[in-house]
Amino acid sequence: KFIGDLTGLHVLEEQIKEILQVDRVVVVPGDSDDNTWVQKEMGKACIASLKKLVGKQNTIAVTGGTTMAAVAESMTSLNKESEFLFVPARGGIGEKAENQASRIVEEMAKKVGGEYRQLYVPDPISDTTYETIINEPSIMEVIQRIKGADIVIHGVGDALKMAERRRTPDDVITLLKEKNAASEAFGYYFDQTGNVVHKVKTVGIQLEDLDNVDNVITVAGGRSKGVAIASYFKRGRGDLLVTDQGAAEQILRGS
Ligand code: G3H
Repeated sequence: KFIGDLTGLHVLEEQIKEILQVDRVVVVPGDSDDNTWVQKEMGKACIASLKKLVGKQNTIAVTGGTTMAAVAESMTSLNKESEFLFVPARGGIGEKAENQASRIVEEMAKKVGGEYRQLYVPDPISDTTYETIINEPSIMEVIQRIKGADIVIHGVGDALKMAERRRTPDDVITLLKEKNAASEAFGYYFDQTGNVVHKVKTVGIQLEDLDNVDNVITVAGGRSKGVAIASYFKRGRGDLLVTDQGAAEQILRGS
């Protein structure tokens, strides 16, 4: 059952803004758990909002996942007068190639007529490699671009689903269960009150870096992500949430 009229969706948007304490919320009709086209609608809504935010020179950092892949699919030319650089928000965090931020930034840049950079970081990364790699000049340059991003677009996932989808060691999965991990974003795992219970070791954006970004756009939908979205917003920053009716109604039920 879809809310067909815009008034209904607008009421939902206002309620979600209040519950999550987010400045702007866009709710598209439907539930992406049931229909993949709903994810594409979120992609289109994200691009429509992005168009209003771009400046003359833009560095846009993006994460991976199927939702971000749908945003890339919906990408159109944004503003012909502006310059765009797309960067992956973080290094590899165990996703399949088609869901990786590195592939998504390439697709976005090509559609916009902009540039992109890659983060060539092994995935997973050991402690010793991490220390060496962050001091490599070519990596440092990309990390600086990422940390200086004007806009961040990212997904949010259900913690255990994400851990299982990625190459997550068994001991980490056990820890996530013990600590009641509810959501994942940027390779950070949060519990329902927003505590970070685990973090994937890779380079790139850190949670605190989000404070320096002009606009953080969160794109996540499907009723199965309702709890995860609420968990992320307890701690993580998001100025605009693009979601769907399924997730929004689940967030309402949980509050
Ligand atoms: O970090 C969260 C995940 O990238 C979300 O993945 O869009 O495939 O659900 P998804």
